[in-house]
Order: sequence, then C-alpha cells, then structure tokens
Amino acid sequence: MGRDPEHPAMTTQHIPPLEPTKTWSGRFSEPVSELVKRYTASVFFDHRMAAQDIRGSLAHARMLARQGILSGEDLADIERGMAQIADEIARGAFQWSLDDEDVHLNIEKRLTALVGDAGKRLHTGRSRNDQVATDIRLWLRETIDQILRLITAFQRRLLDVAEAHADTPMPGFTHLQVAQPVTFGHHLLAYYEMARRDFERFTDCRRRVNRLPLGAAALAGASYPIDRVSVASELGFDELCRNSLDAVSDRDFAIEFCAAGALLMTHLSRLSEELILWMSPRVGFIDLADRFCTGSSIMPQKKNPDVPELVRGKTGRVNGHLVALLTLMKGQPLAYNKDNQEDKEPLFDTTDTVIDTLRIYADMIGGIQVNPGNMRAALAQGHATATDLADYLVKKGLPFRDAHEAVALAVRAAEERGLDLSRLSLDELRAALAKVPGAAERLAEDALAAISIEGSLGARAHIGGTAPDAVRAAIAQARDELNAQKEA
Ligand code: ARG
Repeated sequence: MGRDPEHPAMTTQHIPPLEPTKTWSGRFSEPVSELVKRYTASVFFDHRMAAQDIRGSLAHARMLARQGILSGEDLADIERGMAQIADEIARGAFQWSLDDEDVHLNIEKRLTALVGDAGKRLHTGRSRNDQVATDIRLWLRETIDQILRLITAFQRRLLDVAEAHADTPMPGFTHLQVAQPVTFGHHLLAYYEMARRDFERFTDCRRRVNRLPLGAAALAGASYPIDRVSVASELGFDELCRNSLDAVSDRDFAIEFCAAGALLMTHLSRLSEELILWMSPRVGFIDLADRFCTGSSIMPQKKNPDVPELVRGKTGRVNGHLVALLTLMKGQPLAYNKDNQEDKEPLFDTTDTVIDTLRIYADMIGGIQVNPGNMRAALAQGHATATDLADYLVKKGLPFRDAHEAVALAVRAAEERGLDLSRLSLDELRAALAKVPGAAERLAEDALAAISIEGSLGARAHIGGTAPDAVRAAIAQARDELNAQKEA
C-alpha cells in the first residue's frame, strides 16, 4: 500500500480489498469505484432481455451437451436452474446486482449459486459478445412481430374511416393552397400506403435481424466442436451470421430497425400535423375525441390536440436515436467494443415510442369525427376545379397550353367578382374565355358538370385516382392484402 506511482496524489490504502467473487478478479489488482461500476453497468436496462438471455443460454447448453462438450447431468442442472431463475424474474423476486454489471452475468451468477459447477460450465465456447448480440436479435425479432401486428391494426382503422368517407369531398392541397378536390377517403389512403411501406420495411429488417451470431464467441469463433446450425434452428433463426468478427460487431440490424422506426414516426408525425390543422377551429374539418385532447390551465375554451402534438414531438426523439446509433458505430474498429453497450437504450426507447404511438393512433384515427360540411365549404373557395375546366377544353380539341391560359383568365374574372370559378354561369365563362381563340366556342352545357366537385372527383377513376369508385376499389384491394398479411 502507499502512493499510486501513476497518480501520486492518490493513495490506494483506503480502497477496499478485491471481492473474490468478481468474474474477472484474477486479472485485476484493484476494484473499480462505485462511479465506474455504475458507469460501465448495463443491468439497469438490459435486464429487459432476460427471457431472451435464458433462451439463448439453454439452446447453447443443449448444443454443448449434444456435442459431448457438457455432460447430461450438467445440462439437467442448468435447465433446472434456469427454470427457477425465469420464475424468480417473472415474480419480481430476482435480485439484480450492479456488481454483476449486466443481464448476462447476473443470470450466470445466480445459476452458479443455484446449481454449482454446471453453472460455471455454461459459458464454455461462448462470450458475452456473441451472447449479447444473440439476445438483442431475439428481443428485436419479437418486437418487430409486435410492431407488424400494430401496423396492421392501424391500417384496418384507416381503411374503416376511408371507406366511410369514400365519397366525402375535401380540398386537396399543394403548398397548403387549395389545389384540386379529393375525397377524404383518398387522402387517408395515402397514409395507408405509407403504413404499407412501413410494414414492408420492418418485415425486410426482420430478415437481417433473424441471423444467429452465437458461436462467434469473443470474436474468432470457438475451439470446441460446436454445432451452430442446430442452435439456430432451436432459436428460430433463419440463417447464421457467417463471419465471427462481423457477428459480434454488427449492429446494422439495429440501425435499420431505428431507421424503419424513424420513418414510421415521420409518417405519423405528418398525419398528426394534418389532424392538428384540420382540428383548428379556423379549419374545422375534423374533431378528435376528448380523450386525446387536454384543456388549458388558464383558457377555459381550449381543447388542445395534445396527442398528435406529442407524436410530432416524439418523432424528433426517435430520429435522434437513429443518429445516435449511426454515430455509435462509425468509428469502431473490429470487432466488439464496449461502445456497443450503448446500442440498447436507443433501441428500447425507439421500440417503446413506436409501440405506444401505434397503439394510440389506431384508436385515435378510428374515432375521429369528420365534418363534411366544412370540407365542402372550403372547396367552394380557391377555384379547385380550374384544372377540370382546362381538361374539358383539351378534350374538345384545344391545346393544353391554350386551355391553361384561357382558364387563368376565367379565374381572374371570377376573382374580380369575388366568386369561385365553379359559380360562374356558362355565359360568364364564355365571356371570360373570349380572349383565347377557339376557347369560348368549345364550351357547352356539359362544362358545368365537368367543373362541379362531383364531376372533378368522378373523372379520376383510374387506379390510384380519387374518384369514389377508385377509392372503394383501392380499399377492397387493401383489405385483401391485410387478410393475407395476417396469415403470413
Ligand atoms: N453488457 C455488454 C453489452 O451490452 C455485454 C457484452 C460485454 N462484453 C465485453 N467484452 N465487455 O455490450
């Protein structure tokens, strides 16, 4: 005891003796401080993967026994001990300890306390590096399956509302200016498509999640006659990670997951922005059920769309997790580095946020009250069917650029009179178009139907168009897809 030669100001004499139980105590001559212990531990958060850790350990132990690396008695002890540990964790009776750093060491330590030497043999041919990578993948696979179910439920709600409003006209916007009439059902189907791509992305991400790292051990593989294929099949992995260095250091799958989560949240954030706008008393297209809103502590009249606002806000945090993981990985040399321990909290928080948001959203969107009268009133301003008038003239033989010019004049005439284009009579329209040769004489009685809201909507009956029949066809197709999605 005496002065620490490297840090002369620090004495070592008050540092308590080594705990003989520390897993790697043999190599070290002084214990870590409480602060360092807390700083390096992950058990606070990685205990969420306890069930996956046990499953992975059992599959590893069974393989060791099959391969003659572990005795049948040891395997039986391990299975018995793990059953008890799983039960203790489920009952909340398990004593998590900071001294054992992470979920893996906590469980292994308890196993050894319960079954003795068999517990000490479990880690043969394995490292926490391939163990943790396996646990995260098992955990994430279940999470993705849950997210896929929630996306499907959200899609069903969207379809229900879209179907109820397949005929409800509302202004479609570009630049937040009235552009052309669309149906509210069609507008919602745009979000259905986004959700469909989200579903595809998580499904695709799952393929790369579902590969087994175990067997890579610390980084170079194991020197025992291990059988990785049988472990993969017991744990339901589709493939093996093919390179041991990559297996322990790859976190691409986590980044992909967070990217898929960030995009999903971005879609819901856009929808939230629309709900907030639509719900503003100035717009009044929809109302949200009271249970998704709050009042103001000072202004008695307020009903604020807190839930969509929070979805918009939480999107920032999920986007942040994606950047955190990308940054976590960008400077890491092969293979495992302790930096990787920082992958879990962004991953867990992304998951929690995405799952809660999807749950709330399905309920919220299913319960919106739509005000078709206000949507139609908004359509009566902004000359939403101007393009239809141009299209009408084109169909009668006028070149499109001439038709565009003629209708611009008609819009100006309508503006001067403080009316919407669709309110002008046939004679007024003819007078307005007169300056463009060939325009006025092409206008007939059927022009008025063409520039009505229903005429405009009905004309777009192709696949992907906003006509009520096209919307209903899209909904029918989507329902078929969802039924297949459920069976898959
Ligand atoms: N808690 C660690 C993590 O989350 C487990 C792996 C530790 N491996 C190591 N060599 N220190 O990454």
